[in-house]
Amino acid sequence: AIASMRGRRVWDSRGRPTVEAEMVLAGGAMGRAIAPAGASTGSGEALDLRDGGAAFGGYDVTRAVAAVNEVLAPALRGMDAADQTGLDARLIALDGTPDKSRLGANALLSVSMAAAHAAAAAAGQPLYRHLGGEAATLMPLPQIQIFGGGAHAGRRVDVQDFLVMCPAAGSFAEALDWTAEVYRAAGALMKQAGGLQGVADEGGWWPAFSANEQALEMLVRAIEQAGFAPGRQVAIALDIAASEFGRGGRYKLGLEGRTLDTGGMIDLLTGWIDAYPIASIEDPLAEDDAEGFAAFTRAVGDRVQVVGDDFLVTDAARLRAAAAAGAANTVLIKPNQRGTLSETRAAWDAARELGYAGIVSARSGETEDVTIVDLAIGWGVGQLKVGSFARSERMAKWNAALRIEEALGARSRFAGGTRLGRSRR
Ligand code: PGA
Ligand code: ZN
Repeated sequence: AIASMRGRRVWDSRGRPTVEAEMVLAGGAMGRAIAPAGASTGSGEALDLRDGGAAFGGYDVTRAVAAVNEVLAPALRGMDAADQTGLDARLIALDGTPDKSRLGANALLSVSMAAAHAAAAAAGQPLYRHLGGEAATLMPLPQIQIFGGGAHAGRRVDVQDFLVMCPAAGSFAEALDWTAEVYRAAGALMKQAGGLQGVADEGGWWPAFSANEQALEMLVRAIEQAGFAPGRQVAIALDIAASEFGRGGRYKLGLEGRTLDTGGMIDLLTGWIDAYPIASIEDPLAEDDAEGFAAFTRAVGDRVQVVGDDFLVTDAARLRAAAAAGAANTVLIKPNQRGTLSETRAAWDAARELGYAGIVSARSGETEDVTIVDLAIGWGVGQLKVGSFARSERMAKWNAALRIEEALGARSRFAGGTRLGRSRR
């Protein structure tokens, strides 16, 4: 049973305040977790409660921390931390709003995750095993950012993430080895081109390009220079994050100085898929463009993963509507888009039932918290996206997965063979 709990303000990878919850059970087991924060958030996400005002740019979280200490801690005392469903239902009821705006999704999620950690500790198990039992042996295929753009790089280029996937690697560890070489090669090419200017929010190289296609060209060259076959061994994934520059069927591309309609965006992206070894595209259209999403999925869904992030916001009901319309074939899974682990899990369950693939994802504002790695492996989701191959809030997660692959030993299976771009059943 939960003996005590406290919330505290800690700091994220952008130097902004965030919420940490720490839970102690009657037997002495402890669980601790920190909420992450997005920058290119979907309008359908649960709300991150921030103080507003002058301090720390309005990002302070004293109200969310107070919600943990003054509302949630007394209300949860005595509850069974291992009853995640019951505990999350209590959190949802205590907040009482559809978007978690009263207590804050940051307060609720840190508590929901802390309870999972405490229950795993009480059971004497690593979290992934506590969540998935003996069957939790599937190591995810990582999506790793090489160039960061969009809202994570002052909108230097329109596209937010230029990433790689290594479907031909033999293990999770080998996928990291290959990505490390590609990341290094990309940095060397940037230096040669005089464009080496540090890194963006998630650790990808700063996108000093004058066209989105230039980044794609350089990524292909980096894959080749690292010694890999583009497409077959190392493929490209993109997060267009189109809600950042598209609305009402109008897409304002800053780099090209032109505005496209939905059809124009689909033609542009389809052209990229024809010209470059792209295996996955996230948020190709804006969150309000469900018809565009469906048209794009009809056009390319049997060749590439079409991933909904801002479009689906880890929401089971939105997934069902998208499936009925034939929009997207893969869901990004971000726990803080919903605010509790149970609702996050419900979205993944709906995805599986609907024939959608899943990618567990970090946010652009992260910390040393690695809970999402345990979720990806414990739930057998098959893919994991946590940013680039630099900065320890990212590397902490890749390294945590390495340890789990090692612990699983011969029982581990790598999701590398995952057929990307599967169409829906
Ligand atoms: P965010 O970006 O965390 O800033 O929303 C990540 C993503 O769009 O996948
Ligand atoms: Zn995204």
